[in-house]
Amino acid sequence: MDALGAVVCRMAQRSDLAALLTLIPQIERDPLADGAQVPSLAHAEAIFDQLARHGNVFILVATVAADMDLAATCTMTISPSLSHGGRPLATIETVVVATWRRGQGIGKQLLAYAFAHAREAGCYKVQLITCGRPDQIGFYRSAGFSWEGVGFKAYL
Ligand SMILES: CC(C)(COP(=O)(O)OP(=O)(O)OC[C@H]1O[C@@H](n2cnc3c(N)ncnc32)[C@H](O)[C@@H]1OP(=O)(O)O)[C@@H](O)C(=O)NCCC(=O)NCCS
Repeated sequence: MDALGAVVCRMAQRSDLAALLTLIPQIERDPLADGAQVPSLAHAEAIFDQLARHGNVFILVATVAADMDLAATCTMTISPSLSHGGRPLATIETVVVATWRRGQGIGKQLLAYAFAHAREAGCYKVQLITCGRPDQIGFYRSAGFSWEGVGFKAYL
């Protein structure tokens, strides 16, 4: 493993999409799993343009100076809310660090960047659902989340 250069966290640009489509499948240990499937580049570009029009879904990325490829990504949605005095809430999904960059503090830095963005947007909380593997729980606790409530999902 090489030395970790400067980590830069920023919003993804359209030109990051090809790299994102390589990074996102690394969320799964099994490359054939459903979550490892990504759209075509053309479809991803259409989705990116749609997100840009919506203006409340942000794809965040981290880069390491030494790397050509992206080191990490997550997606954060800022949802308007009628509760909590009308303050929005942030939901984070698709958190993935490149396999060769795990355990180097990059995921934590990216989530700190996401938290800062959510604070700036006036959000009253940031939430996410994890499948609950011990590594994920350790990571999210360290990143500032506490384990609260029970998550529900219905796949469609
Ligand atoms: C989970 C994941 C995002 C963590 O990212 P990472 O960059 O490797 O984590 P970091 O190096 O930033 O670690 C930050 C903290 O989390 C802890 N952590 C990271 N991986 C851990 C593990 N496998 N077990 C326990 N704790 C772990 C670290 O010890 C560190 O704690 P500290 O800062 O208090 O010392 C990354 O391993 C990953 O992409 N995994 C596959 C995809 C995935 O599971 N995504 C989450 C979907 S919900």
